[in-house]
Amino acid sequence: MIFDTHAHYDSSQFKDDRDAVLTALPESGVGLAVNPGCDLPSSEYAVRLSERFPHIWAAVGVHPSDCGGEAINYDRLRELAEREKTVAIGEIGLDYYWKDNPLREFQQTVFRKQIELALELDLPVIVHDREAHQDSLNVVLDYPELRGVFHCFSGSPEMAGILLNRGWYLGFDGPITYKNAAKAPEVAAVTPLDRILVETDAPYLTPVPFRGKRNDSRNLPYVLEKLAEWKGVSKEEMEKITWENGLRLFSKVRV
Ligand code: NI
Repeated sequence: MIFDTHAHYDSSQFKDDRDAVLTALPESGVGLAVNPGCDLPSSEYAVRLSERFPHIWAAVGVHPSDCGGEAINYDRLRELAEREKTVAIGEIGLDYYWKDNPLREFQQTVFRKQIELALELDLPVIVHDREAHQDSLNVVLDYPELRGVFHCFSGSPEMAGILLNRGWYLGFDGPITYKNAAKAPEVAAVTPLDRILVETDAPYLTPVPFRGKRNDSRNLPYVLEKLAEWKGVSKEEMEKITWENGLRLFSKVRV
């Protein structure tokens, strides 16, 4: 079975067929999915989905692009993080790509506060790092006890090496199937099999051959196939390894 460790089924892109898509996952070979939140309402939605579907688990957090509006209610975030089916804090991190995002220092403060919540509750984190590699690395390295995954990892093989040495996992998504994926094979090469997670980031980052369409967890075999090719293992092995890796990192998940 496939474990999609990052899919946004709370997205409005699933408003017309969300239940049908989620119900179809197990029969299509997707046995588990983690749905991260991006702000408090989407985190609440993720928790509700996890309570309705046995194969869906939640992560709760405030994304760097969404942290600049109203003051963040950390007490509410903590309540959601303590729910039985919440398995991580995410997605949280730094995003310097969008020019109208909150100021960098503010993003870092919000990132750190949520890391501290994760440590207090003994939960892993799901990190979003876009064009903020050095600062993201500096922040997480301040917390040696912290466990987690760099979602859709886009840093260098050197950065991957530093994170892997500290016990981090790296997430691989649809873009590894794109022709211009230059760094991804080098990053995969330095990443041990037991630290690889597969993610869709649904409804985004759709792999080839469906690039441009809405993504969902049923497209993960294309990502698994590419990784299997790079790592020299069978697709079935890759599926089994990433399933076990997901269960190891998100240790609250029960099958
Ligand atoms: Ni995401």
